[in-house]
Amino acid sequence: MSEHKTYKVETLKVPKAWKENAFIDKDKYEKLYEKSVEKPDKFWGKEGERLDWIKPYTRVKNTTFEFPNVSIKWFEDGTLNVAANCVDRHLKKRGKQTAIIWEPDDPKTPAKHITYRELYDNVCRLANVLKAQGVKKGDRVTIYLPMIPEPAYAMLACARIGAVHSIVFGGFSPDALAGRIEDCKSEFVITADEGLRGGRKIPLKANTDTALQKNGHVKTVLVVRHTGGTVPWTDGRDVWLDEAMAGAEAECPPEEMNAEDPLFILYTSGSTGKPKGVLHTTGGYLVYAAMTHQYVFDYHDGDVYWCTADVGWVTGHSYIVYGPLANGAITLMFEGVPNYPDASRFWQVVDKHKVNIFYTAPTAIRALMGAGNEHVKNTSRKSLRLLGSVGEPINPEAWEWYYHVIGEKRCPIVDTWWQTETGGILITPLPGATKLKPGSATLPFFGVQPAIVDADGNILEGEAAGNLVILDAWPGMMRTVYGDHQRFVETYFSAYKGKYFTGDGCRRDADGYYWITGRVDDVINVSGHRMGTAEVESALVAHPKVSEAAVVGYPHDIKGQGIYCYVTLMSGEEGSDALKKELRDWVRNEIGPIASPDQIQFAPGLPKTRSGKIMRRILRKIAEDEFGNLGDTSTLADPGVVTDLVENRQNRR
Ligand code: WT7
Repeated sequence: MSEHKTYKVETLKVPKAWKENAFIDKDKYEKLYEKSVEKPDKFWGKEGERLDWIKPYTRVKNTTFEFPNVSIKWFEDGTLNVAANCVDRHLKKRGKQTAIIWEPDDPKTPAKHITYRELYDNVCRLANVLKAQGVKKGDRVTIYLPMIPEPAYAMLACARIGAVHSIVFGGFSPDALAGRIEDCKSEFVITADEGLRGGRKIPLKANTDTALQKNGHVKTVLVVRHTGGTVPWTDGRDVWLDEAMAGAEAECPPEEMNAEDPLFILYTSGSTGKPKGVLHTTGGYLVYAAMTHQYVFDYHDGDVYWCTADVGWVTGHSYIVYGPLANGAITLMFEGVPNYPDASRFWQVVDKHKVNIFYTAPTAIRALMGAGNEHVKNTSRKSLRLLGSVGEPINPEAWEWYYHVIGEKRCPIVDTWWQTETGGILITPLPGATKLKPGSATLPFFGVQPAIVDADGNILEGEAAGNLVILDAWPGMMRTVYGDHQRFVETYFSAYKGKYFTGDGCRRDADGYYWITGRVDDVINVSGHRMGTAEVESALVAHPKVSEAAVVGYPHDIKGQGIYCYVTLMSGEEGSDALKKELRDWVRNEIGPIASPDQIQFAPGLPKTRSGKIMRRILRKIAEDEFGNLGDTSTLADPGVVTDLVENRQNRR
């Protein structure tokens, strides 16, 4: 961990203006934090009032992490509607205020400003279209859309009528889409003709059709007309959304939902098996998303806020759509990519829309840092007040660059640690309260009780390093794995009984600051995208020429981690560059471009114990080019295997 000691900014004090004007200063943070963990019912009972409830709750927290009886309920006797909270209740004061700024992929295409009133009309119309297609409360609706305003309409339309949305990132393949439709038995899909990213078209409708060859139960496909490209069509199943919405009424009463009714499912990768459907519910999720959005980003009325994530990830759910809109914010949705038409694009968008708060991932910061400061210096960025980071540990070099070059030492950086499962930010600075240390996510948010445990689950006090767990429930956390509560309990609560296990390694320094060191399970983080090595392995072994595969992560300058694949071929097959390309394309096809292998090494054998277990520790070392220090290899069934692996390693520094 010595690399953390070399940064130039040791700690950064809270600027005076922030201390004075932010919602939360240090005093308030300390007092409220104490209250939040000592009297959670009182604390969250009051916080819940930030939403409009149809029937107010009388019970606040009813949760247990006790294995195997884990059960999480918040505000359980209250009723509300998420769309009414994100849209309707703002109409009186903000009907004419922009809710969503949409910035298209091509800077020459005009941007759109969607007011809260227009958002209301669109959400109601889309909700009525869903109803007319037979969508009922509790039904699952799969959303496979690009970064245009429609996914926000669709999410809120589902919430309005009590349907449960499951968004599948537009970069996923037909197979990945099919698996997610199948798992939650979704009968309705919303997609677009095509997506557009960096000038390239993504055939979303064609992908959907391919996926639906495997999902006979899908009744309706609603298609957004976006690029105008020609698409395959199935009469009786496919419906143009614009035509249906034009004919729909612009009023749709919001359904009264219980606080614990499901709001959405979002699939995420774990260390084993297929992706899990993380289930989030209504009341606690929205309270937590709105509160964290307000305090972490210190969002004040009228601020222009931009989170660069895709709505297909949890960051897009909580911090493009639900949190900001619950707060009546102006949220920017960007269709494009950081380096198209060139590496100034982000900062040009910041200038064009006078963005005040900017939230992105370290991988984007590193890529833009590599493109050179001239792409930054030709923009103003004077509107920026606060910068945020999410998705993976931010290395101090990237932090420094973000702070000095992008923010010109004016903007605090909030390095926010959280997960799909947590629903919202758990460990983070608050800009008016927390001294910053580059590379540290700093301190827990209200109500969050992190702890560091050793391998046996003993809680370590003071300065410590080990595995990160959370000791008690917070309102935004997932409630279950859709359709498999047992898997939820096993995955998160069995390793350390009575505690939520995050899967992350972590260190705590003498000031009590948390430094996330990365996953300790077989999950890798590629450009801020989470991937199970097991998923890539099963894609590889599905190829007819592959007999066995083992996949590990290795340090990658831009992506954070790269994907390193060891592949054993069927007997008689020869490894070649052509076959590497074939396998790379194969994986892209099976999962999506984000899973594209960075390194493929053909391996006649994999290092295994005598009981046949692959020794991943050794494979990780070789992938990292650290083969001088392979540790204990005495349990290997065939030590000769390692010699060949080292000789033919692909990542030589
Ligand atoms: C994993 C969760 C949370 C939204 C995006 C990712 C890593 C996330 C940080 C951070 C260090 C981070 C962790 C975590 N991670 N934020 N600020 N510092 N690591 O959500 O796909 O569910 O991935 O991302 O390893 O477990 P996700």
